[in-house]
Amino acid sequence: MNAPLKLELGRRYRFSASHRLHTAHLTEEENYRVFGKCNNPYGHGHNYVVEVSVSGKVDPATGMIANLADLDAFVQHHVLEDFDHKSLNEDVPAFRDKVPTTENVCIEIFQRLKKFPLATLERVRVEETGKNSFEYAGENPEGNRP
Ligand code: NI
Repeated sequence: MNAPLKLELGRRYRFSASHRLHTAHLTEEENYRVFGKCNNPYGHGHNYVVEVSVSGKVDPATGMIANLADLDAFVQHHVLEDFDHKSLNEDVPAFRDKVPTTENVCIEIFQRLKKFPLATLERVRVEETGKNSFEYAGENPEGNRP
């Protein structure tokens, strides 16, 4: 009998949030020089797009890697509820002392989603604007296996 085929599933989510790029490690002038208008004191918003890729074996009974409803519920509970319509700096504890650049947002989302129990998280891609996107696949891909 053939082994079940391994496939990758991609799903796209959206959230809106504000952030301010600022670090206590730099002076006010240095912050402004490094981050420019993204350092404006009261922050600014983005409509983020998150692409989540998971892989797994196709269940011969259901024909699916994982039920999309299960993935959606996990992303909703572990990411969107905490990030959507929030201030990343103020509302997400991870960004109290880490600059909420999209690089760091991408890593934080990956860390949260790698606990998804029903498939293997392959990568997370975050679009901040139509021009910028960041992708993270973990430091040790074998380590993502549930
Ligand atoms: Ni920004």
